Amino acid sequence: MKEKVEEILREIEAFTATTREQVEEYRVKWLSRKGKISLLFDEFKTVAPDLKKEMGQKLNELKNKAQAKLDELKQKFEQADVADEAHEPDLSLPAEPIALGTRHPISIVRRQITEIFGRIGFTVADGPEIEDDWHNFTALNFPENHPARDMQDTFFIDEQNKIALRTHTSSVQVRVMESTQPPIRMIFPGRVYRNEAISARAHCFFHQVEGLYVDEQVSFADLKQTLLYFAKEMFGEKSQIRLRPSYFPFTEPSAEMDISCSICEGKGCAVCKHSGWVEIMGCGMVDPAVLENCKIDPRKYTGFAFGMGIERIAQLKYRVNDLRLYSENDIRFLNQFKSAL
Ligand code: DAH
Repeated sequence: MKEKVEEILREIEAFTATTREQVEEYRVKWLSRKGKISLLFDEFKTVAPDLKKEMGQKLNELKNKAQAKLDELKQKFEQADVADEAHEPDLSLPAEPIALGTRHPISIVRRQITEIFGRIGFTVADGPEIEDDWHNFTALNFPENHPARDMQDTFFIDEQNKIALRTHTSSVQVRVMESTQPPIRMIFPGRVYRNEAISARAHCFFHQVEGLYVDEQVSFADLKQTLLYFAKEMFGEKSQIRLRPSYFPFTEPSAEMDISCSICEGKGCAVCKHSGWVEIMGCGMVDPAVLENCKIDPRKYTGFAFGMGIERIAQLKYRVNDLRLYSENDIRFLNQFKSAL
């Protein structure tokens, strides 16, 4: 028996395998239940008692070595598999599909607005989202005690120096007028911030597009015609507009503009609250005091300005009924704008 064990040991040590099948043959030959090593264990019962201890040790040693060799062979083939996968891709496999992103509805509408105004000569500019009191409020004629300056409405970054997140894109009007003499015909799209509780109808940040036209003899009629053109381009030829008197510190006179409801076409629905009209922007003639604050001569120049919320336009165009959807990044929502690019 001793010789048998030693012979098997030599055979095992010399064994090499080049295929998985050979490894399996090795396992069956030596280590399966009917393998040669198992048979030796059966034979062990007949070993003389005084040799049992020595033989037992030898047999166990043999079994352990045979098992260790099997483990080693198996591992070698597993590593080879991994290496194969890493180095030799199967070029006949179908390609992974490329998940194409879509433009965000806010970006889609911003582009449409920019394009519509671009066709009548408006260029685009932007300004900082962190703004000082002068550009966001004072130059725009907001009185010292105006409620919009309040902590409740504005996110202050540095209260002492009155640095805040801009509450509207009208601040860019000031920056542009300070650095450019008329004629100015520009729009300013951008993100704005207000200290509001988040709900379906309000958010602490949203997007606006501001428009500004300053030149000699710009009139309210120019404003009205420009906005009518915009409404028809954005919502269709049948759209009508209505201007209602309003108040903003930086325009005089000021108005709010409604468009005929594009959803029910004036018949009355929940979006227009059964009035047939929906408000989409504020506008007016730039207040001479604002021109003066920006070093533009109000005796020579006049101008109009307007400001609209992009979310609001997108809501009307795409019937989005909850403002929160715009910033939740829910793929089921975003995927619906694939065809609107
Ligand atoms: N800044 C105003 C707001 O955020 C919107 C606005 C109204 C802008 C009238 C204007 C304007 O340029 O003339 O509510």
